[in-house]
This record gives sequence, C-alpha cells and structure tokens, in this order.
Amino acid sequence: MTFVDSHCHLSFADFAGRMPEIRAAMQAAGVRRALTICTTLEEFEQVHALAMGHDNLWCSVGVHPDNEGVQEPTLQDLLDGAARPRVVAIGETGLDYFRLNGRSVADMAWQRDRFRVHIRAAKATGLPLVIHTRSASDDTITVLAEEGAGQVRGVFHCFTETQAVADAALAMGFYISFSGILTFRNAQALRDVARQVPLERCLIETDSPYLAPVPYRGKTNQPAYVAHVAGELAKLKGLPVEEVAAATTRNFELLFGIPAEPKA
Ligand code: NI
Repeated sequence: MTFVDSHCHLSFADFAGRMPEIRAAMQAAGVRRALTICTTLEEFEQVHALAMGHDNLWCSVGVHPDNEGVQEPTLQDLLDGAARPRVVAIGETGLDYFRLNGRSVADMAWQRDRFRVHIRAAKATGLPLVIHTRSASDDTITVLAEEGAGQVRGVFHCFTETQAVADAALAMGFYISFSGILTFRNAQALRDVARQVPLERCLIETDSPYLAPVPYRGKTNQPAYVAHVAGELAKLKGLPVEEVAAATTRNFELLFGIPAEPKA
C-alpha cells in the first residue's frame, strides 16, 4: 500500500537541510510522492528546485492569499512558472478573511484580484487550481464561478468548511483535500462532512510543516504522516485503508496529470 501527499511546503525553513531524512521517512511510511506548494514568487525557484531535484516531487506556482508585502504575481509571472517542467498546479491561491487586522471585506479587493489572476492562469494553462479558503467561502465560490464558469479544475485544500461549501465545490467539479485536522478531537463537524464526500473526489495531504495529525499533534508535520490522514478517512468511510490509499493516489494522478507508477 502506498500514499501520496497532495499538499506540503518542503521549501519552508523547518525542512532546511532535512530533505534526505524527510524522504527516508516518506519511503518508510509508503508515501511515494508529494506535491510541494509555492506560496510566494520569491520562494518559487527554491520550490521548483525541489521538484527538479527529486523524482518523486512535483510543485505548483502561486502566491498565498495571506502573503502581503511580497511580489504581486502578474498573469505572465504565473504562466512563466507554469511552463517549467514538473509544475503541475496553480496556487496556492484563494481568499482568507480570517486575519482582516481591522480591515473590512471590502478592503480585501486586492486579495480577490490576486485570486482572479490565478484563475486566469489556470484557464490559460489547463492546470488545476490549489485553493485555500478561510472565513471567505461565499466569496471564494462566487469569484470562482464568475471567472471559471466550469473551465477550471482544482482542489479545495485543507478543507475545514461546511457540507454546503463541499457541495458547491463538488458541483463545480473540484476535489476536496483533507489534512491532519481530520484526526483532531474537536473536528467532529469536519469528520461528518468527510464521510459525505465521494471517495473519487477526495485527496489527502499534510500541509506540512503545519497541522501534524494525531498522534504527532503539535510537532512539526511531514509528508510521511499523511498515512494517518488516510487511516482516519478510511475509518470514517468504513473502508479498508488500502482502498483509500489507492483512490486518493488515483485522484492525485488524474487531477495533476502525474503518470501512475509502474506496478511493482
Ligand atoms: Ni498550504
């Protein structure tokens, strides 16, 4: 049985100098492949170098909605990044009104504009969007519908929203990715949603270095731990973990256009 981690941040300082150890832990846990996600243009070269330097890593290009005081991506910046080998997604992008810091939602027009640029890049390239949404699900769905209108694919990553948001995402053809939050004691509402999301639309991820699943909660997360997310999802769905591992691997390959591994 093998797993994939559809969303991690291996370029972050937590992992500096630790790639041999991180990849050995992945191998030991049966986590064969991972998608390392870009959050600023400033870090893109480093993210891309990870994907180029390791045959089981791929990457995205994009600027996270929470990042301020960084280079604002133009459509051309994203297209240039997307043209590189091993870049398989646009993002992470989306909307986050959790940290308004005294601003109103109206003040966050810059974030919506940034999101629209990413959606246009996804449309132009055909690559899937990796979407982050927090305290902003209505606007996220609205902007996607306005810009995308069925022409973009993608995933709502690290899903923590309601059934209604899940239904809207699924109706637009998006996948839903569950993280270690699924294992947290206080996440019953999320577990109830996860039970309802069809397995053929589920992805699993760590979002490492953040959000380590139980039993590693509070520690630095890493891709090897994605097996615990698969285990929880399997428990919720009453399925063998092998089935969840196989389905989430297949979904990952389909969404990001990554070829299946040859059968051992
Ligand atoms: Ni992330």
